[in-house]
Amino acid sequence: MPDPAQQIAELRATLDAADRLYRLGEPTGMSDRAWDEALKQLEQLEVEHPDLAADGLDTSPTRRVGGEPIAGFQTVEHSSPMLSIDNTYNREELDAWVKRTAKALGVERFDMVLEPKVDGVALALRYEDGRLTQALTRGDGTKGDDITHNIRTVRSIPLQLRAAAEPGVAEEDEPVSIPAVLETRGEIVMPEDVFATLNAQREADGLELYANPRNTTAGNLKQKDPRNVAPGLRFIAYGKGAVDPDPFETHTDFTAALKSLGITVHEHEDVVNTADAAWDWIERFDRLRHDLPYATDGVVIKVNRYDQQRALGANSKAPRWCIAYKFAAEQATTKLLEVNWQVGKTGKLTPRATMEPVFLAGTTVTHATLHNYGEILRKGIMLGDTVTIEKAGEIIPQVVSAVAEERTGKEKPIVPPDACPECKTPVDIENDARRINELASHERKVEREKAKAEKEGRPPEVIVPPSPLGTEDETARYCPNPECPAQFRERLIHFVGRNQMDIDALGEKTIHQLADAGLLTTLGDIFTLKDHRETLLELERMGEKKVDNLIAGVEEAKSRGLRRVLAGLTIRHVGTGGAKRLAQHFGSIDALIAADEDAIAAIEDVGPITAASVRHFLDNPAGQRVIQELRDHGVDLTEAIKQPTSAGADGRGASPFAGKTIVLTGTLERYARNDLKNLLEELGAKVSGSVSKNTDLLIAGEKAGSKLTKAQSLGIEVWDEARIIKELTGRTND
Ligand code: IVH
Repeated sequence: MPDPAQQIAELRATLDAADRLYRLGEPTGMSDRAWDEALKQLEQLEVEHPDLAADGLDTSPTRRVGGEPIAGFQTVEHSSPMLSIDNTYNREELDAWVKRTAKALGVERFDMVLEPKVDGVALALRYEDGRLTQALTRGDGTKGDDITHNIRTVRSIPLQLRAAAEPGVAEEDEPVSIPAVLETRGEIVMPEDVFATLNAQREADGLELYANPRNTTAGNLKQKDPRNVAPGLRFIAYGKGAVDPDPFETHTDFTAALKSLGITVHEHEDVVNTADAAWDWIERFDRLRHDLPYATDGVVIKVNRYDQQRALGANSKAPRWCIAYKFAAEQATTKLLEVNWQVGKTGKLTPRATMEPVFLAGTTVTHATLHNYGEILRKGIMLGDTVTIEKAGEIIPQVVSAVAEERTGKEKPIVPPDACPECKTPVDIENDARRINELASHERKVEREKAKAEKEGRPPEVIVPPSPLGTEDETARYCPNPECPAQFRERLIHFVGRNQMDIDALGEKTIHQLADAGLLTTLGDIFTLKDHRETLLELERMGEKKVDNLIAGVEEAKSRGLRRVLAGLTIRHVGTGGAKRLAQHFGSIDALIAADEDAIAAIEDVGPITAASVRHFLDNPAGQRVIQELRDHGVDLTEAIKQPTSAGADGRGASPFAGKTIVLTGTLERYARNDLKNLLEELGAKVSGSVSKNTDLLIAGEKAGSKLTKAQSLGIEVWDEARIIKELTGRTND
């Protein structure tokens, strides 16, 4: 009998070594099947010999297999803020940055490192004594969600760092010692082939296709059940978080260390010291980036030396020591063949172009959006035109312009429809949503000014209204028929969508299939599907498993709460944010029904236009029917009431600055004065220009003068910059 303790150790080592080679993109010498079998064997041994397996269990390859779902995400503060990067779009701006940076550093030349800007999801990984202890999303930059449970399942991320030279690490490499705390930040991406496989599976299952790898990754990592994390996600490290002890002097020192510890870093990474050389690198990279298995949208240029990075510091949004050069969105030209008008969930008609197929940024494209009729006129696009199309991050391309030189004279104007293409009801010409929002926002400003003026006993100031209405042609077309079957289907699709009822098994195709079969004639019918099991099973592509999933998904959706229901009902001007505010304010549909328009309009960030629209929905027989149906089917129409806090509207909870009057004075090092002001205001503070007895706090930078003296004489609390940074980020400014 082999010794089980030894067997456990050997299997772990074998699986780890294979994973490591896999991360380095080298042949692992192990088939997937052999790997799976070894893993199964290890799992069994660990179960049979818990005592022998206990040591090193948390980093065992078996721990990658997802554990139980979690109830919710913990929000955790970052060791230092995860900032964004300033962008540049041309060579002049890049040159200017290099000049500016050299000047700030007081040097002629400085080393800069170039690496791809990956279009993925940012992640901070923390290792303590070499073990993965925490994985945080970027969140709001200051705090992120703890998604460690999901990240543990990602094979490209080591659970345990290995310091020794091992297979896959060149002999001549010095083994690196592992810092007690090592936090690295990077981007997690879904390679194109993984994305394609995932979508092929969804298509086969009749589920709605994912739009693009980035959003899919983000959604995938924010789920509660780690068993559903897509296999094949990749992590690419780009930077350093908290590291202790920290022997690293340059970015490239750090990435070299990561690599030898088994963490993937960019394979394209070079150091240059002139703007010309940087530009050459960028041009070269632009030619080869399309062969990479994941999307890149630019190049990040960083000052390589950490002491120089520290000297340059950051403003409140982005460090001064790095800059991103962004590539222009990819374009192609093709011929515009036809324009169809698609009916949306609110009845809005959107022109959709059909074109001669053309290859663009990795896929063959035949459709693109033209947004609305006004856009068509502004861009002067005609049927038969050669058009330039563009994919900007998203999967749906758009028509940018017509190529005037290619006109033959045979092109025809695009005519908007007089009647709904689906139900033939004559169309309504209406202001587009942006315009309605402008008007609503103006109305809110006027109201606020009126109230303020009244309080201060002065006449209200005139607030200039938005410019007069455009021509009919520039406004959107709507199908006004609430019973329009096309609208109804779009509303169904919206209702079950991820941010609403979140019934994954009810994808777009399935909705159409069920509606065609007569199983969905009202929104409430979704909740009666369980009574039609036999009929469902007779439909194409509907196996036992799929039907069970669907029914279980529908049952689960009943308890999502009022916020999700309101977001799903397609009440005009009520999106996810508005739905949340309404639900958390009223706590139940009955309280909302009982509220009059003014009471609804009085909620912060709701306003009169939304209030009118909500009332319209609630007072309308069609709206009342939907609500009654949902109620009858046992859908939860309540929500926990949240106490209002000044910073609470975005759900981030109360801020210690809410309602405080704060004055800023002196020279601030790390923050631009205005950035800090905006930040404090976002957190609910009032930032005032002069110190008085009403001042709660003075933030004094270097060379503060009379305001500081005055504050001191009034006994007002005074903070220096280090203190405010600490309060805002939970960190000292190192
Ligand atoms: S360095 C700002 N390097 O882009 C702190 N970021 O648009 C230093 N990103 O939040 C970031 N590739 O998530 C850096 N090679 C790269 C990157 C990269 C992608 C992301 C990162 C950042 C975002 C800003």
